[in-house]
Amino acid sequence: MLKNTVELSKCILLFLFLSALFISTNAQKHLSCAGSLQIRKPHDLEALQSCTTYRGVISISSLAITNLAFPNLRNLDGIISINNNENLRYLSFPRLKSAIRIYVVNQTLLNTVEFPSIQKVVSLTFRKLPLLTSLNFPARLSEIESFEATDTGITNLNGLDVRSAKDLKIAENRNLLNLRLQNLRDAGEFFFSGNGNGRIEVPNLVSLRDLTIRNVGFADLPKLETVSNDVVINENSFSSFTIPKLCSISGTLTVHSNALESFCFPELQNVGGAILVSSNLNLNVISGFPKLRQVNEAIDITGSFSELKLPGLQEVRGGLNVISSSKKFWCKKLDPLKDVVKGEIFVCKSGVKDPKALFAEKKKTEIMTSNNGTVNGNNNISATNAEKTSNADGVSVRFESLILGFVAVSMMFLS
Ligand SMILES: *[C@@H]1O[C@H](CO)[C@@H](O)[C@H](O)[C@H]1NC(C)=O
Ligand SMILES: *[C@@H]1O[C@H](CO)[C@@H](O)[C@H](O)[C@H]1NC(C)=O
Ligand SMILES: *[C@@H]1O[C@H](CO)[C@@H](O)[C@H](O)[C@H]1NC(C)=O
Repeated sequence: MLKNTVELSKCILLFLFLSALFISTNAQKHLSCAGSLQIRKPHDLEALQSCTTYRGVISISSLAITNLAFPNLRNLDGIISINNNENLRYLSFPRLKSAIRIYVVNQTLLNTVEFPSIQKVVSLTFRKLPLLTSLNFPARLSEIESFEATDTGITNLNGLDVRSAKDLKIAENRNLLNLRLQNLRDAGEFFFSGNGNGRIEVPNLVSLRDLTIRNVGFADLPKLETVSNDVVINENSFSSFTIPKLCSISGTLTVHSNALESFCFPELQNVGGAILVSSNLNLNVISGFPKLRQVNEAIDITGSFSELKLPGLQEVRGGLNVISSSKKFWCKKLDPLKDVVKGEIFVCKSGVKDPKALFAEKKKTEIMTSNNGTVNGNNNISATNAEKTSNADGVSVRFESLILGFVAVSMMFLS
């Protein structure tokens, strides 16, 4: 009887031992799908192949691989950084649906990137990928905070289907001729610069923090009403431009070096910063501010125009600098503005050979240096919460080891 009980206990304990072992090896497997991982040899990638979820930070850099795929990864609760792998040609995340941050940078031979299932990412960066020809998100990338595609060879960008985003930076993609963001309603910074001098259409965009449109042939922002910081319209090839519903810009409006023959901000009433218009050599008549009433900083308009109309202007808190190379421009017409301009500087000149902007210089250099898509391009990433949360697994693994140890010790006593 006693013997039977001991045998039974042994059997139960053996069962417990094996179960604990099983749980433990699984936990081990699970553990390899979490934490900070710096991949140093192609072999290190094998451990990742079975992961369906990864929690932590994976960095893959300077590896001699041509293809990189994560066939089972469905959810990345963390960061993947892929950079400087000089032979990499193919990158695929066939099942990945959501991620915190993905960063693909400086991959000079990379020509194919596949994200057929992705729908949700906090931050997605594609930078310095000269041979990459397209970026598609067929499952509709509908939730994203920051998206960047700079200095790539893409000719199209499909499936970026967000309603709201913090930053969208699409710059220096020389072959990208067309972009339509159908559903975007509001965004922080919208930076579109140095792409293939084509079309940008954002038909439902209502509000933004910052807008930059540079090197564009056609821009359509029919519903944009407010910009809470700066608007920059620089070096575009369109001959006319309008933002029909824009009524307020809280920062500075810059219109510099465009092929414009005319522009219009028909509803614009208030500008919280300055208005800087310069070097638009085809702009003969400046009549694009029919309702402008108040400018909190300066008005600085230089060029070769022969006419400037500011019919509704009631208050300019800064100065005024208006200089044209045209002899036809008649400064007398601006005399009524002397009461409106509160700043100390009131300059108006015509027939000046090389008109110099006065207030604009500082702003312009800021704009020029921030316009290069790669300026913010340090390859520095920092871990987010992902690394911290990955500790939870460590705790459960320790608990399992404890059970295992207890069972093993019990068995020793019983036998
Ligand atoms: C880009 O990657 C190449 C290797 O493909 C490396 O030699 C180069 O230093 C990297 N450039 C930067 C800016 O990191
Ligand atoms: C920015 O772009 C301009 C012209 O495209 C170039 O001359 C300049 O060197 C660039 N600056 C940086 C920091 O890359
Ligand atoms: C990376 O960025 C973080 C935070 O943005 C900063 O504290 C750190 O000094 C940077 N590291 C490098 C090497 O630039």
